[in-house]
Amino acid sequence: MELILKNVMKSYGSTPVLKDVSIHLENKFAVAIIGPSGAGKSTLLRLLSKIEETDSGTIQVNQHVLNETLSDSYYKQIGFVFQSHTLFPHLSVLKNITLVLEKVHKKSKQEANEIALNLLRKFDLEDQANKPPHQLSGGQSQRVSIVRSLAIQPEVLFLDEPTSSLDPVLKQEVLRTILKLKDDHASFVIVTHELLFAKKAADYLIFMKDGQIIEHGDISILAKPQSIELREFLSNEFIDCNQS
Ligand SMILES: Nc1ncnc2c1ncn2[C@@H]1O[C@H](COP(=O)(O)OP(=O)(O)OP(=O)(O)O)[C@@H](O)[C@H]1O
Ligand SMILES: [Mg+2]
Repeated sequence: MELILKNVMKSYGSTPVLKDVSIHLENKFAVAIIGPSGAGKSTLLRLLSKIEETDSGTIQVNQHVLNETLSDSYYKQIGFVFQSHTLFPHLSVLKNITLVLEKVHKKSKQEANEIALNLLRKFDLEDQANKPPHQLSGGQSQRVSIVRSLAIQPEVLFLDEPTSSLDPVLKQEVLRTILKLKDDHASFVIVTHELLFAKKAADYLIFMKDGQIIEHGDISILAKPQSIELREFLSNEFIDCNQS
């Protein structure tokens, strides 16, 4: 994937949240965004997925220049997974996945079912196909959200702390699902507090603090942080990445 941000600014009211963020990435498969609470990670992800607009500056994701692109056509080509469950509660797992395929991507019912069932099978969820979301565990439900966003074969998948509402066992389940994305060469950008996971899954790291990108580079910078801020952040997370 290609991500090009030029002087991106975003404020809520009079509070600046992203302060002149610029970065130019090419040929990355999986980008992890880390940083302390309030750094602006989710805000950046919302801008990248065009759920919100920048105040100024430009964002390009692959060939899409976001402020020149219609939201609806962009949404057809990307996926977004939030931290808590966002399945439609009144629809079965299968319907949750086929709905967008049928309504937005104009697939026939049969085609949509086929795509959905294949994906559910691939992610060991086929037994859940006819259940309503409230009969799933938190981990299953989050995995279905990921499968749903994959069904449209997005160019890029944006994941915002997809495991933060889960207990450690379910967390592993979901993280394994995300690792599978990597095997499939599906590009993704993930905001995560799971540093060991980031190390395994991502090829590029962005560290944010106070609305700015403080440090970025190949994921291996986790083992050799240059900035005091990243060093401090890593030691606060109690993980010595040199030893893992
Ligand atoms: N819709 C909003 N309205 C007003 N302020 C907001 C809004 N969304 C975020 N903020 C503020 O912007 C700043 C950055 O928030 P953001 O959610 O991007 O941080 P984050 O890095 O994702 O943090 P966390 O790790 O806690 O999820 C915070 O100070 C937050 O209070
Ligand atoms: Mg956040």
